[in-house]
Formats: sequence, C-alpha cells, structure tokens
Amino acid sequence: MTKQRVLLLGATGETGGSILEGLLEDSDAFVVEALVRPSSSDKPKVKALTDRGVKIRVADIEGPIEKLIDILAGADVLISAIDAMSQLAQIRLVTAAKEAGVKRFVPCAFTTVAPPGGVMALRDQKEEVYQHVRKLYLPYTIIDVGYWYQLSFPTLPSGRVDYACLFKTRTEIHNGGSMPTMLTDQRDIGSFVALIIKDSRTLNKSVFGYGEFLSENEVYETLEALSGEKIDRKYVSSEEIAAARASNAAALKSDPNAIPNLISAFREDYHYSKYVRGDNTPANAAYLGYLNTRELYPEFKPRTFEEFARELLDGRLPKPYQHLVFDTA
Ligand SMILES: NC(=O)c1ccc[n+]([C@@H]2O[C@H](COP(=O)([O-])OP(=O)(O)OC[C@H]3O[C@@H](n4cnc5c(N)ncnc54)[C@H](OP(=O)(O)O)[C@@H]3O)[C@@H](O)[C@H]2O)c1
Repeated sequence: MTKQRVLLLGATGETGGSILEGLLEDSDAFVVEALVRPSSSDKPKVKALTDRGVKIRVADIEGPIEKLIDILAGADVLISAIDAMSQLAQIRLVTAAKEAGVKRFVPCAFTTVAPPGGVMALRDQKEEVYQHVRKLYLPYTIIDVGYWYQLSFPTLPSGRVDYACLFKTRTEIHNGGSMPTMLTDQRDIGSFVALIIKDSRTLNKSVFGYGEFLSENEVYETLEALSGEKIDRKYVSSEEIAAARASNAAALKSDPNAIPNLISAFREDYHYSKYVRGDNTPANAAYLGYLNTRELYPEFKPRTFEEFARELLDGRLPKPYQHLVFDTA
C-alpha cells in the first residue's frame, strides 16, 4: 500500500497531539510531517517531534502565500488542529492548499455537533472556513468528536482528581443535568482521524465519532459510584446560561478580539448548545448530514467513560493544557 503523506498543523497541541499519536500508530498507512510556525520552530516540543522521526516543515500560514504553497505541495492530506482562538487564520491555508493540489483538507473541526448560524460563535468561525473550502472545491473531510471526557468530569470533595482537571472546581450541573451529549476520550481522536482519512467514503463529507452519549447527571453518578464520594452539585439554570450569553455578547461587541471575552463566549455557547438546545446528539448529526463512525468502522471500540474514570481515580491521566487552570467550567 502506498503511504499517504500527511501534513499536520497543531502537532504540539492537545487535539493535534492525539492526532499525531493516531497517525504514528498506523505507520504502514502514513508518513507524518508537522507544519510548525517560525516562532515555535526552536521549542522543545518541536524538537521532541523530530526525535520521533516527524519531519518539521516551518511555515507562516499568514505569510507569503507562494512559500506556503511550496510547503503544501505533495501533501495527500493536510490536517489543521489550530487552537480555538485562531480559526480564521486557516482561510489562507485553504487557498494555498487548493493551489498546491492537496488531495484532502481536514479543517479544524474536532468539536461538538451543532448547526451554524448563531448557536455557537466558535462553530460559526469554523463554518466560515468550511465555506471557503467549498467555494474553492477543495476536497475535504470535516471531523467532529463530541466533547472530551477530559473536560467533562466533576471535581471531588477529597481533591483526588484535581491533578487532571483544568478547573479549580467543577461541580456545575446545567439545566437540570438530564440532557445527553456525545462525549469522547481525547486520546481516541487520533484513532478516529486515522480511520477516516484512509477511507474514500468520507471524502467531501462530515463525519462524527464519540465514545459515549451521556448526561451530566450520568457522568457525575459514575464518578460518585466509582469513588464512593458525594459531589455537592451547583445547579445552573437555563435562564442563567441565557443571561451569561447576553452579557458575553455585549462584552464581545465592545471588544470582539479580547481573548477573555472569546473564552467566556465560547464556554457559555457550549453550555447552551449541549445542555439547553441538546444539539450534540447522534440523531442531530445524522440530520445535519454527518456520516457515523459507528456505522463506518463497527470494529473500532472507543474508550468508555467508566474506563476513563477508573484511570482518573487511579491517578494515571495527564492534565490537558498543562500550563492553564481556570476557576470553574
Ligand atoms: N471537543 C472538545 O471537547 C474540544 C476541546 C478543546 C478543543 N477543541 C477544539 O480543538 C481544536 C484545537 O484546539 P486545541 O485546544 O487542541 O489546540 P491547542 O492545544 O491550543 O494547540 C494548538 C496548536 O496549533 C498550533 N498553532 C497555533 N497557531 C498556529 C499557526 N499560526 N501556525 C502553525 N501552528 C499554529 C500550536 O502550535 P504552537 O506550538 O506554535 O503554539 C499548537 O500546536 C479547536 O478548534 C477547538 O475548537 C475541542
């Protein structure tokens, strides 16, 4: 089998790191290269990629387009796992990928399922990139994965899981906690991506994968049952979520590019979409035209939330975004 040459933007990040692992595990199928920005090319994380045999391609995706086209030329697949705040920086990358003849572009989706048009500001930025892809008839695959287990578990009174939690405390239950939503172990994203980009059925399609379809109440109850601890829940109503969204919208209007404003807006949009509207479901994904990885790859068994929770309680998981801690989810 001829190996696909895959160029990955974001290999040093959380999502991109998972994708890197998934691709490297399938070394019969892929030759993996990392697209790195000039300001990061000397970082230890990039050196660590070289040590694993990943070729580094240094490019400024907002720099001269001819140089970018040269670097993208010959890539079978270009994957972008750029951070949430930088979605629109992909527009030039798309233009360059088309010029370079990239055979499949995987834009930075990797999020929950939701319709475009005012539900989630982050989704709408991603959709702007997808529209540019389609306008150019660049071959593509959009991959969504639900919300990570790693960001969905509550903290416990003993402090036992704090080591792996991005939040100082996370005990909120939104809109009663009964709305189920698709959740995924971050480590499985790369396996989904490897399966999907080898598959001609997924070309010019959206595809979703997930580990479990669980409500917040079910997630909290699982952790309580496995830990023997009782979580003191903080209930957040749909009205409170609506008020927070309105206040975020006002803040964004006065300063649209302020990162704290964007973080608050994206976070509250997730609460609204997942727990009030209930967008992130297999049925809605099918309605929106996505292919389902469970039907495409029935042999692939994603990690369950219970497996994840046991590792969490055993102290065996890394914390996502090592350098960050937020007060609350
Ligand atoms: N489904 C979920 O639950 C969930 C959770 C979190 C995120 N996400 C989604 O996942 C996507 C990726 O987010 P993340 O949090 O994984 O990202 P991240 O950890 O912040 O990593 C971002 C990566 O992009 C690279 N990058 C940023 N700007 C670049 C540029 N101009 N040129 C080249 N490389 C650049 C960074 O490289 P450097 O080393 O140079 O910084 C880094 O490797 C986002 O779209 C977000 O919506 C989904």
